[in-house]
Order: sequence, then C-alpha cells, then structure tokens
Amino acid sequence: MTGRGRVLGIETSCDETAAAVVDAGRTVVSSVVSSQVDVHSRYGGVVPELAGRAHLELALPVVTDALAGAGLDRRGRSLDGEAREAACGIDAVAATIGPGLIGALLVGVSTAKALALAWGVPFVGVNHLEGHLYAAMLEAPDLELPVVVLLVSGGHSLLVALEAPGSYKVLGATLDDAAGEAFDKVARYLGLGYPGGPEIDRLAVSGDPTSIRFPRASTEGVFDFSFSGLKTAVVNYVRAHPEVTNEDVAASFQEAVVDVLVAKTLAAAEDIRARGGCLAGGVAANSSLRARFAEAFATRGLSSYLPSREMCTDNAAMIAAAGYFQLQRSGPTPLDAGAVPDLRLHNSK
Ligand code: KG4
Ligand code: ZN
Repeated sequence: MTGRGRVLGIETSCDETAAAVVDAGRTVVSSVVSSQVDVHSRYGGVVPELAGRAHLELALPVVTDALAGAGLDRRGRSLDGEAREAACGIDAVAATIGPGLIGALLVGVSTAKALALAWGVPFVGVNHLEGHLYAAMLEAPDLELPVVVLLVSGGHSLLVALEAPGSYKVLGATLDDAAGEAFDKVARYLGLGYPGGPEIDRLAVSGDPTSIRFPRASTEGVFDFSFSGLKTAVVNYVRAHPEVTNEDVAASFQEAVVDVLVAKTLAAAEDIRARGGCLAGGVAANSSLRARFAEAFATRGLSSYLPSREMCTDNAAMIAAAGYFQLQRSGPTPLDAGAVPDLRLHNSK
C-alpha cells in the first residue's frame, strides 16, 4: 500500500448501510451510516429480505457520500479541480464478509469487489467482529494497549484481549443469548418497543435496581456469558408477581446484566494485565453500563474507553480500519472469496 493508506470501508452485515474513508487505520476522513430501523421496527426485528433490498438501494448513494466527504468523486478521483489527480485516491476497498445476513452481506461484498476491480486496488474481506475491536482506537488515538474489549451487541457478546492492531485473543463469549438480544427479548415480553435496549435503559431510570434479585449466571469458562436463564427468570417473576412495575423489572434486569458484564471485563483485564477496558457494540450505549464500567476501572487505577454511540453501533469506519491492518498483515482477499454468514472471531495468528 502506498501514500496515506487510504481505505474505503463498506458495512452491510445487518440493518445499517455504511461507508467510510479512513487513513492508515486511525484517522476517519468521512463516515456515512444509513440506518434501516424504520424499515424493520414495525416487525419487531430485522427482516432479512427487506434488509437486503434496502442495502441494494442505499449502497451506492452511501458510498458516493463517503467518497464526497473525502473530496473524491465516484471514480475515486479528487474533486478538487486544481489538484485533480489522475490516480484513484483510494488505496484499498474493505467490506464486511461476515458474520451477518447473507443477502445483506453480499451487497457490500459485491460492491467492494466491483470498485476494487474497477480502480485496480486490493479488496479486503473483513470480519465484522474484528471491526468492532478498532472502534475505540479510532476515537482515542492515544489508547494504550493491551486493553480488554467488551463487545456487546444484538448478535454478539465477546471479551477480547487486544494486544496490538491485528493481534488479539478471544477470552470469552456468550453461550446462548447475546446481551443485546436479552435486552430485546425482555423488552418485548414487557410490551416495550424495538429495539428494546434503549427502552429498558429509559424505564430503568425510574425503577429500583435492588427491588428484585435476578440471578447472575455463573459459567464454566470464567470469561463466558450466559443470559438465557436471566431472561427466563424475568418471565417467571413477572408471571408470579403481576403487580410488579415495568420500571422495577427493567432496573433490576439491567442491574443483573451490568453486574456480570462489568465484573467479567474487570477480571479479564486484571488477568491479562491490561492497561484498561473498552466498550464496543450497541449495548455500550447503555447508561448504567457506561457509568459502572468507568467507575470500576477507575477504582482499580485502569483506563476505560467509552466510544460515542455512533462508533459503538455498526459503522464502516471500523471496517476500513480493520481492513487496513489486515492488508498489512496478510495481504488482499482473493476476489472469488464469498460472504460467510456464520463467520466466527478466532485468535489472530
Ligand atoms: O451493535 P448494534 O447496533 O447492532 C448489532 O447487533 O450488530 O446493537 C444493537 C443492540 C440491540 O440489541 C439494542 O437493544 C442494544 O444494542 N442497545 C442497547 C441500548 N442501545 C442499543 N441495549 C441496552 N441499552 C441501550 N441504551
Ligand atoms: Zn456490529
């Protein structure tokens, strides 16, 4: 890779169509995210066919916007007449190849391959989960490694030791429901809207987190999570106590989730002698989790990094950053590589 190491990233794994231009895996030049929440909210969850179709409509306009934000036209050439460069201003195109919905992933992967081929630059297929690991670094360039990243979204709950860009180790994962999934399922049971996390967060403010003692699941692997038992405990409690308020259930449920997430991340940070902990993924927007996470790390003299909501949720800047480091480490992805809906995150080599 030459020059600035300028990567165009494309993200279409679920219900956000996103594109971004990032320099050298660290500096966000432009980032555009188009959310499909409105398309799916009335169905109470993401409808795969609708997601695929919406990505198809949005991919090129979103990519064009991201390129324009970096001063480039649709061919990747400089828009500035004076400094008009003959060469393409993009050094590589990265796209999420998994995990995600197959019809959604294919839109981003095909778009990225076509652009890479047309521009004569490398294509890089990125693991979406690896992308999330770099989100905190994009906002905190002085972040000191190693850190433990707690990645909690609608589809995943992972604890990962990030030792250096491109070097990480998976410490633990969810054995059943992801943290966000637990929020969404409990919210649906309580008759709240979708997505459920923000609704529970909002209601919990006026509830008593100590009013109901929900279980904190223990798992065989010290850094693994399990949330399906907690979900069942909420359902059983509400059935047995119909007079209970949604506010108290929301606050007590949230307290149980946050207790487990914070305790395990802190224990993992101490275990690997990390300098601090990072939050990533949609659940990282939770106000109680943010407050308790920061407090717990500060008490132990460790740093905590709480990226903005935009950076925690799905975006393409994190995909471009991951693509940059992957290209440095293991080169381009062959153009005949497909999308992998059930791609897992393995330890880096
Ligand atoms: O990372 P994300 O935007 O999408 C993926 O799953 O990839 O995460 C969405 C998840 C949903 O389950 C949503 O309920 C949860 O993040 N979420 C929250 C909050 N905001 C979003 N959970 C708890 N508290 C919040 N404030
Ligand atoms: Zn995600």
